[in-house]
Amino acid sequence: MPARLFLSSGDLIADRRFEFARDLQLKGDLVAAADLLSQAIELAPQFASAWFTLAKIRDELGQRDEAIAAFRQARDVDPEDRHGASLCLMRLGAEPLAPMPKAYVRSLFDQYAPRFEAALIGDLGYRGPSLLFKAVLAVRLAARKPAFFKRAIDLGCGTGLAAAAFAKGVDHFIGIDLSPGMIEQARATGLYAELEVDDMVQGLRGKPDASAELILAADAMVYVADLAPVLGEASRVLVAGGPLAFTVETHDGKDGGRNGGENGGGVRLGEGLRYSHSADYVRAAIEAAGLKLAHCGEASARNEDNVPAPGLVLVATKD
Ligand SMILES: C[S@@+](CC[C@H](N)C(=O)[O-])C[C@H]1O[C@@H](n2cnc3c(N)ncnc32)[C@H](O)[C@@H]1O
Repeated sequence: MPARLFLSSGDLIADRRFEFARDLQLKGDLVAAADLLSQAIELAPQFASAWFTLAKIRDELGQRDEAIAAFRQARDVDPEDRHGASLCLMRLGAEPLAPMPKAYVRSLFDQYAPRFEAALIGDLGYRGPSLLFKAVLAVRLAARKPAFFKRAIDLGCGTGLAAAAFAKGVDHFIGIDLSPGMIEQARATGLYAELEVDDMVQGLRGKPDASAELILAADAMVYVADLAPVLGEASRVLVAGGPLAFTVETHDGKDGGRNGGENGGGVRLGEGLRYSHSADYVRAAIEAAGLKLAHCGEASARNEDNVPAPGLVLVATKD
């Protein structure tokens, strides 16, 4: 993953204290690091990176209440929440499950973009696009339909790995992604006819009814808590018979989990700050969107801590 986000305080001495604190943190001297961060915050009370790092250290030290207070400060001084403090609050059970802050996703992937493919394919054994390709092929074969599509939309297209997997079967690819850095990499591939920096639901809202023959989302729904809006829009934009193929990370869904929140036990936020969706939740969301489940296979799109992260590959079609 990328180096931790740093937002300068604008105060040279506070920034220096932060750097020393990070050195101490990396060396394992958490108490001294916390002390230096508190000094940096005294100099620059709006210093979001210092608040966030202090919160992480308080959490590591087992000081839960102090960690929660510092995460809240990090978010208060940076309401866009580029560090993702609200996700840490959800993980700590201090706040209910909620959508991922868009500025967090954007800054995460903007930092990640230049070495995304090496990290994902090399380090995490990423295989999302080929899983989607095989699943779509199987569904089209079973329906006796060709796997050729005039217009396809790639949601959370990243650097373009899914478009590469489907390139031979698609005439006109549209990529949508929140991160300008990822879109820049996607543009360099020459695989997309159109690219949009946008949220996937907003991007779909701008498309006419029945205007896409295929919609893909490879390893992108892990950043979306509530799947209903995106599945609803995909259903509207797909032509009759058109497939929506996507991967999710999953869990057994037997209990509400610590992040049950408004979505009950169906959606959880994992340690890696990615959502996982239970199979029952995804099936119900597909049905509610007016789509028909054509394929649901257990398959892991990538590794987490060197073991395959439990996942599902889904293809839903518009009737
Ligand atoms: C793990 S990457 C996967 C990229 C690509 N689909 C692939 O298979 O390599 C997830 C991508 O989803 C994008 N993303 C996350 N949430 C999004 C949202 N709500 N709308 C649009 N893009 C989003 C991120 O910016 C990132 O580029």
